[in-house]
Amino acid sequence: MDSLDNKLDLPWEFSEANKSKEILSYYPSNYKQSAVIPLLDLAQHQHGGWLHVSAMNVVGKYHLLVCGTTPCMICGSRDIESVLLDHLGVKRGEVTKDGLFSVREMECMGCCVNAPMITLEDYSNGSQGYTYNYFHETQDPKRIKCGPEGGNTTLLGEPKPLQFRDLDAC
Ligand code: FES
Repeated sequence: MDSLDNKLDLPWEFSEANKSKEILSYYPSNYKQSAVIPLLDLAQHQHGGWLHVSAMNVVGKYHLLVCGTTPCMICGSRDIESVLLDHLGVKRGEVTKDGLFSVREMECMGCCVNAPMITLEDYSNGSQGYTYNYFHETQDPKRIKCGPEGGNTTLLGEPKPLQFRDLDAC
């Protein structure tokens, strides 16, 4: 909710003193995105203990996250990442020259059945209009939604009642 001192059209940027802090230099080149929490913490301290909504929007607009965990990697997530990086002309963790896109790796998105997985974090409407969408490779028309080809193969019958040990009989 907008307020007089916290709304999207109020400009915000790091102070010169905070710009000179080299937080990003503490992180390896392929994990610069891990600096986002300390950078937001710095922004919060600069702003007197709370995080201005415009400060959250300084971090970019479209973040493409490619799953790098084993099931997605086996199903070609590295190839998808290469295509994205080539197409956008950036390295992993870099932002395009127009400041719109970045590509990063993410660990398991909990959707391995649809590997390989990509997520798009969309900040184009600011942090208040933020959306987070999954995209996956289940384009096989024989699959229905996330189910296996040919239909379900497990949990087809009525569940069996739970078995409990009779502790009084011990
Ligand atoms: S391994 Fe990619 S979603 Fe689980």
